[in-house]
Amino acid sequence: MAGARTLAIIKPDAFSAGKAGKIIAHLEGQGFAVRAARVMRLTQAQAEEFYAVHRERPFYRSLVTFMTSGPCMPLVLEKANAVTAYRDAIGATDPADAKPGTVRKLFAESKERNAVHGSDSDENAEREARFFFSDAELLAAR
Ligand code: CMP
Repeated sequence: MAGARTLAIIKPDAFSAGKAGKIIAHLEGQGFAVRAARVMRLTQAQAEEFYAVHRERPFYRSLVTFMTSGPCMPLVLEKANAVTAYRDAIGATDPADAKPGTVRKLFAESKERNAVHGSDSDENAEREARFFFSDAELLAAR
């Protein structure tokens, strides 16, 4: 993804509350372009694999339950310095700590039900994009 793309997920809390369109519009207004998108409900196995890095954390089981509770919306977003720019745009993990105007301050419910996911490095953005999208989908979006 050459550093210009990141993987976002509109999580089940925000999707089920009908906030997906508002969140995408908010991000587009900040210069992000949607390059791939789908609506899906994660299986337990998918959620466990996606969040495997958090397997030993006390919130892991609750996080898997939440992320499989309803449909979510993985997105590939493009912008210069996409990973950093997107993390700035979404704000801190806990909406209570997120700056005004960030996606989590505007749309998240709690530290767990925090509306959106964002990759934390270019390497993970690439890996996470491939988790949700085929080579053909990622190539077609170029
Ligand atoms: P994200 O940073 O996208 O990926 C890990 C997720 O785990 C995080 O969003 C939250 O949804 C959740 N999470 C992180 N820390 C906590 C916590 N202390 N309690 C509950 N959920 C958490």
